[in-house]
Amino acid sequence: MEKLLIILLLHFSLLISAINGHNVPSIYVFGDSIFDAGNNHYNKNCTAQADFPPYGSSFFHHPTGRFTNGRTVADFISQFIGFPFQKPFLEVQDEIKNGSIKGYPSNGLNFASAGSGVLRATNLDSGVTPIQVQLEQFRTLAEDRHISKFVIQQSLFLLESGSNDIFAYFDPFGTSTLTPDAYVRSMLMEVGKFIDQICKLGARRIAVFSLGPVGCVPARVLLPGTPVTKCYGKMNKMVKNYNKGLEGLVNGIAIKYPGAFGVFGEVYKTVQDFRANPRRYGFANVTYACCGDGTLGGFLQCGKEGYTVCKNPNEYLFWDFFHPSEHTYKLIAKALWSGGHTRIRPLNLKTLANMTLPH
Ligand SMILES: *[C@@H]1O[C@H](CO)[C@@H](O)[C@H](O)[C@H]1NC(C)=O
Ligand SMILES: *[C@@H]1O[C@H](CO)[C@@H](O)[C@H](O)[C@H]1NC(C)=O
Ligand SMILES: *[C@@H]1O[C@H](CO)[C@@H](O)[C@H](O)[C@H]1NC(C)=O
Ligand SMILES: *[C@@H]1O[C@H](CO)[C@@H](O)[C@H](O)[C@H]1NC(C)=O
Repeated sequence: MEKLLIILLLHFSLLISAINGHNVPSIYVFGDSIFDAGNNHYNKNCTAQADFPPYGSSFFHHPTGRFTNGRTVADFISQFIGFPFQKPFLEVQDEIKNGSIKGYPSNGLNFASAGSGVLRATNLDSGVTPIQVQLEQFRTLAEDRHISKFVIQQSLFLLESGSNDIFAYFDPFGTSTLTPDAYVRSMLMEVGKFIDQICKLGARRIAVFSLGPVGCVPARVLLPGTPVTKCYGKMNKMVKNYNKGLEGLVNGIAIKYPGAFGVFGEVYKTVQDFRANPRRYGFANVTYACCGDGTLGGFLQCGKEGYTVCKNPNEYLFWDFFHPSEHTYKLIAKALWSGGHTRIRPLNLKTLANMTLPH
């Protein structure tokens, strides 16, 4: 009986790959607001929210909990593969509890939580879900066989996190006593543990994305002593150090875990390219938040009392004080999907998804 099932499964996966040109049954997404598809909305304890208008207005035409005007990078990648969007894990849990669905969706799950970081302490008082807890949520499903070993081995895993840790380091009410280098090392230690754990659970297609230039977000005006007419250099320096260490960790995946593949998405340089050549990429404004208020539109979260919103959100690099617009996300997702070595290495996502891995 079991043998028959396995044979059927194999045929099914070959069929999928024949139709879509890929070998990935599902996508599992971890990280922060760049990926969050609504987990925070379903987390009643959490104060980091984007579940009110005008979030979502350019694509979904209603708020979904995503921190942008439309789809995120994870949504686009899912579309490129040919899947419906991965649902927030906490939404699926609610649906299973109240009986509106029977089991976990076959296209994967999204565990990302806006405001969270790679350090457990980051924005803890806002009730966010750090990557360690996201990993435990996934591990429980794997151990309870809600996600099979076969599916884990063939699926695509996406991770992006760290911006909130670095932003928090510069918070004048922050508590870190570490030097910038030591702080970055402590972040990398946590990411290293996450990668180890996910590989030990059987993941073999792992994509880790670098941080963008966090020192350029309009919300930098919330911190004392930051420049307005240029990016915050000290913050970007830390981001670059983190990204460098991160690429080292990703390169270690294939060595430590034979048969597994890690790819590193070069989001930092990709976004700097948009900022340097805005017109080429269809941007009219790469400095201000489309939606918000105050200096650079960075003083107020979009949707909060007193906000204004621009006419053409997708001509702006930034949708709100921290987050890119859907147009920016689409360009990043395309670069990661089919770009060359300056965008993602050693393989792009299209190649990673289409590779045949042994069973
Ligand atoms: C997937 O790989 C096969 C060769 O293994 C190739 O023929 C096909 O075009 C690829 N599909 C995509 C979408 O890259
Ligand atoms: C919310 O907080 C309570 C008490 O701190 C905790 O027991 C519960 O697990 C939290 N819920 C979520 C979804 O994080
Ligand atoms: C079940 O939970 C989901 C997610 O919270 C919700 O959208 C849906 O309305 C609920 N359905 C019922 C029948 O309570
Ligand atoms: C960007 O948009 C803001 C308003 O949202 C405006 O004040 C600023 O001049 C614009 N910058 C450019 C270069 O168009």
